[in-house]
Order: sequence, then C-alpha cells, then structure tokens
Amino acid sequence: MNEALHDITEDIPSRRETWRANRQVMEHAPKGRRWRGRVRRGLYGMAARAARVLGPTRIVRRASARALDLDITELRLSFPDLPLAFDGYTILHLTDLHLDNIDGTAAATARRIAHVGADLCVVTGDFRDNIHTPAATVAAHFEELLQGVRVKEGVLGILGNHDSESMVEPLESLGVRMLLNETVSLRRGDDRIHITGLDDVHRFHHHQATHALRDAPDGFGIALVHSPEIVEHAAAKHRLYLCGHTHGGQICLPGGRPVAVGLKRRHRRFSQGLWQHGEMLGYTSRGIGTCVLPFRVNSRSEVVRITLCRSPHAVMD
Ligand SMILES: [Fe+2]
Repeated sequence: MNEALHDITEDIPSRRETWRANRQVMEHAPKGRRWRGRVRRGLYGMAARAARVLGPTRIVRRASARALDLDITELRLSFPDLPLAFDGYTILHLTDLHLDNIDGTAAATARRIAHVGADLCVVTGDFRDNIHTPAATVAAHFEELLQGVRVKEGVLGILGNHDSESMVEPLESLGVRMLLNETVSLRRGDDRIHITGLDDVHRFHHHQATHALRDAPDGFGIALVHSPEIVEHAAAKHRLYLCGHTHGGQICLPGGRPVAVGLKRRHRRFSQGLWQHGEMLGYTSRGIGTCVLPFRVNSRSEVVRITLCRSPHAVMD
C-alpha cells in the first residue's frame, strides 16, 4: 500500500473473504421477476442491440469521438472542520470509465488528464461497461489510463454495478488500493482525514456497506460510493461524498434535462453536480464513459479536480 495511506479497518483478509463470498452470491443470483426490472432489462437489451447495429456507422463514430471530449471540472470546497494540514489538498475524481464501450477511452482520458496534477486520485466505479468483459482486459485498459494520472499519494478505487469481484486483484496489482467497505486514513503530522470506500450499493447492497459508514472513525471523513443512494447513512460521519453512476443522464434534452438517471425519486436531487445533505457536501460526476450506447446527447463527460479548503463556513464554489 502507498506510504501515505494507513488502514483503519481491522482484519481486512477475513472481512474480504466474507465480502467476496457475499458478492459472488449476489453476482450469480437470478434476475428479479418484478415488472419494472423486466422492462428495464428489455430496454437495456434493445439499447445494446441498437449500439451493435449503429456503432460502425460514421455518424455514431463521430458521436463516440465527441463523447471522449472530457470536461475538467475544478471545484473548491470549503469546510470549517477540515484539519489545517489538509487546507489546499487536491483530489482527482474519476468515475464511470466504461473502458470497454468506446475504443480509445483509456488513451483519450490519459491524454486529457496528464496535465491535471493532484495529491490523490479516487475512482468511484464502473471500470467496465459490459459485465462479460474479462477482468484482465479491464485492468489492461486501466493500466493505459493510469499513464496519465499524476498524483503524489496514490489511487483509491471502489467497484460499481458493472464491475465484478474478480476485478479487485488485477486492479490492486496495478497499485490501486481498492476499498471494499473499508476505511483508510491520510496523515499529515498530527492531522488526519479518513476515506471510506463502499462496494456498489445500487445492485450489490449488503449491510457490510452501511456498517462501514457507521464504524468510520470520528473526524473529517470522505465517503466514496458508486451512486448517491446511501447519502442518508453517510451524512452522520462524513463531510464529503463523491459518486457517479448517473452519467448526468447521458442522453439529455436540449438544456441538459436528463431523459432518465436510474435513481428513485427521493435521490433524484443528487443526480448530478454539487449538492448538500445536512452538513455533508456531495458531488455526483457525469463520469468519463458511456453506458451501452457509445455516445452522449447534451451531456458532456467530465473528470473532477477538487481542492479542499478550510473556511469558517461550508461553501460550494
Ligand atoms: Fe456507469
């Protein structure tokens, strides 16, 4: 593990064994029979077939190239209780890479972010798009993307709903510290902040995830979660929540209103951009890649660079 990161979660090998067994059961569980799930899977299948048919056409190839034109979003977030040693600390937030959906996603992202330095990089899941893409292929794509990541204190990652348990080892062999309902701390002198990373809670929610949030140490905490669907649990002990999953809608009406974001009504206010829940600030990134359809409409892909600032009042710039 990187020298800057210190494990807080105890007995990780046995916890991971439990986590892995639960994850495998959930990954192989039969699909639900509820009509909403059936409709969603039907639409998903239609979109996948449309992507296969339209993908090679010139118009879609051009749209795919435009989808890789990443926005770099700069955020300065202020907190009254940020430990002083972390005033000015920078985090590069990548999410929803879907590296296997559009050829060249890893290389284009690496080129775009190569000049964006930060102290730490966090990746909040969906490394792949197709759930049948082998873990080794995903890791090879991610290794290419890592060529452009310029950070001092390492890369933290979590899994998304498109990712599998089998991807953890190949990603960790690249030096990425995967957080599977686990917490690490960053220390500067006597000051420290902690970061809790959860397994996906959209499709693979397990009570170990809520326990990880509950058991996080006191002090300044950051939660990494693939989707904004566990905001209420995180707010008690965390000051910042970083997530993705929604792709900002990916297909939006003129003006940017998403056609769908895949969240229940009560979470839709967290579907993109900056938000606040109680004392906790959050950011839902539109992410890098595309889901199933290899293009975006009125929704630009993004990478986010966050600067943490100490200030008397919580401020979102
Ligand atoms: Fe995604």
